[in-house]
Amino acid sequence: MPAKKINPIKRIAISTGGGDAPGLNAVIRAATLSAIKRGWEVYGVLDGFNGLILPEQYPNGGLIPLTRERVRGITHLGGTILGTSNRNNPLKYPVPRPDGTIEEVDRSDEIVRGFGLHHIDALITVGGDGSLAIASVLAKKGLRLISVPKTIDNDLDKTDVTFGFETAVGFATECIDRLHSTAASHGRVMVVEVMGRYAGWIALHAGVAGSADAILIPERPYDIHKVVDKIREREAQGSKFTIVVVAEGATPMGGGVTVLEHEAGRAERLGGIGEKVAAEIHEISGKETRVVVLGHLLRGGSPTAFDRLIALRFGAAAVRGLEEGHEGVMVSLDPPHVKYVPIEEAKGRMKMVPMDSDTILTALDLGISFG
Ligand code: F6P
Repeated sequence: MPAKKINPIKRIAISTGGGDAPGLNAVIRAATLSAIKRGWEVYGVLDGFNGLILPEQYPNGGLIPLTRERVRGITHLGGTILGTSNRNNPLKYPVPRPDGTIEEVDRSDEIVRGFGLHHIDALITVGGDGSLAIASVLAKKGLRLISVPKTIDNDLDKTDVTFGFETAVGFATECIDRLHSTAASHGRVMVVEVMGRYAGWIALHAGVAGSADAILIPERPYDIHKVVDKIREREAQGSKFTIVVVAEGATPMGGGVTVLEHEAGRAERLGGIGEKVAAEIHEISGKETRVVVLGHLLRGGSPTAFDRLIALRFGAAAVRGLEEGHEGVMVSLDPPHVKYVPIEEAKGRMKMVPMDSDTILTALDLGISFG
């Protein structure tokens, strides 16, 4: 998108929304230092957009100044120094009615007003698909903004990869490595449930890297009997144990996702498929099974050097983009370049694992079952 002539920027704000991911602090640091270098003031919005929607709950209206000192030494830290939220979506803000039901209210105008009140010229919003949807509405209402894609799930389209994914895959792989010894010593089936929402990227990459025997991903509904066939095939070959990696969004043939919780103002919470798969395997095969749910462990820890670098590049590119006059765009990794793609093209598009991808073909050649 060609850059256009725009008013000079004096003050920007940064917000981090959705589930935290290793690398968020690196984005904050890179964007802050890049902005300060240009003589801009930088503010952080606390807890996603809550800092602006619920200013009375925060000192200084929910914004904190981001200075060189404030962002010192944070590149390697997990989480986000600004706080985040994947509840209270400002486009569908849950408000209890007197009859006990919940009404979903659009509070995006309050965010726009908050920016005017604080004399913010431009916004960098770091987040996943939920944040992109919010950014799209705010951009249409006139906010000058650039989005930075973030999710450990790697399910955002229009970017080669998101930071946090490699860190999550590395940790999941280490966990699978560690489970091999117990699985082998006890002759058990170990079922490892990993996050990833409706996409199987984490399960696939960690499963292949960690030498799993079966990997169940949302892109291909599984038949539990095929998983048991794999266990029996291994037994016939002398391996008394099996490692099954299951994505939280995996579904049995003809069945739906396993949901832990529905709550107004946020996406459904997935989880519990590991228990189901393990119980079915035990029932059909009689094998002793154990389940390990890696859950939020995948979101913590220090980002890998790869994730730090992407995050730093994204943060700096967001500021460069604002300076060059880009707006309503998302920074995106298109190796070896970081580019800007219109938010309208990026939002609402989920990147699924292509079943003909090289990683899937590799897994099949290694004898890994997808159920
Ligand atoms: O999108 C990141 C993610 O960790 C998903 O993999 C998972 O389904 C979801 O967030 C969990 O959200 P929460 O932190 O609300 O449990």
